[in-house]
Amino acid sequence: MKTSIIYENIKLNDNTNIIKFPCNEKIEPGQFIMAWVPGINEIPLSFSGLNDLKEITIKIYGKASEHIAHLKKGDTVFFRGPYGKPFENTAGKKLLIGAGTGIASLVPLIDKNAYGVLSGKTGNDIVFQDRFEKKSIVTDDGSYGKKGYAVDALKDMDISEFDMIYACGPEIMLKSVMDYMVNINDRAQFSLERPMKCGIGICDSCSINGYQVCTDGPVFSLKQLMGMSEFGSTRLNYSGKRIKI
Ligand SMILES: Cc1cc2nc3c(=O)[nH]c(=O)nc-3n(C[C@H](O)[C@H](O)[C@H](O)COP(=O)(O)OP(=O)(O)OC[C@H]3O[C@@H](n4cnc5c(N)ncnc54)[C@H](O)[C@@H]3O)c2cc1C
Ligand code: FES
Repeated sequence: MKTSIIYENIKLNDNTNIIKFPCNEKIEPGQFIMAWVPGINEIPLSFSGLNDLKEITIKIYGKASEHIAHLKKGDTVFFRGPYGKPFENTAGKKLLIGAGTGIASLVPLIDKNAYGVLSGKTGNDIVFQDRFEKKSIVTDDGSYGKKGYAVDALKDMDISEFDMIYACGPEIMLKSVMDYMVNINDRAQFSLERPMKCGIGICDSCSINGYQVCTDGPVFSLKQLMGMSEFGSTRLNYSGKRIKI
């Protein structure tokens, strides 16, 4: 188990915080840590910043994320990792498609050639818009940006002009984006979020069609995803029961 001392906690909105802490580990965009909350749980979190001060962005869902989101300057963060297959960070024009806190893991890929499609249920879910120079914003309820889903924003642009497309967010959104991607060959990488317990390929809780998301992913190519019948359809819950997504 590794530790670091929190340098800063920035409140982004009602339920989302950025935690910054020093860490010398070599971490690549798309990789994640298993953050431990003693007595509660261990949860996977990816990085929204990879300088000497590392940055994680946490949306509060339950007890573990709430605890981490409320850590204060000087508190200790416990973690294992980094784990997982990173994004392949390519040169050329990039399209970064994120929904909610899924946008966080795409932030380290931003450069002058990046265009962002940021989506969320409401305006409250849109984070990091100020870090993108060029972007489209869509919300389900139209409370911020244009009303619609991520895939609706894609319909307003020519996605074939991008050299690589990166996406992260809820699986339903990723599936609709994948289904929209015709004629772009394998020029897309998707980061999946499935329930994880061990993070290192032992427990099988993150499995999808024989792949372990924690070790074979979380980043998968478009071609890999197209061969996965469980993608956007079913997953295991924390008790190991297969449920519909
Ligand atoms: C590889 C990977 C990277 C991740 N990176 C991030 C990140 O950078 N930032 C971040 O905020 N989260 C991230 N997550 C999701 C995060 O791990 C979960 O939100 C967290 O495990 C919730 O734990 P909890 O104990 O607080 O809530 P739980 O007690 O596990 O859940 C409480 C309730 O919220 C629901 N819930 C939990 N998580 C989610 C979710 N992600 N989406 C929708 N409903 C949910 C549960 O089904 C349950 O009903 C990542 C997940 C994976 C697999
Ligand atoms: S989380 Fe245990 S195998 Fe992936």
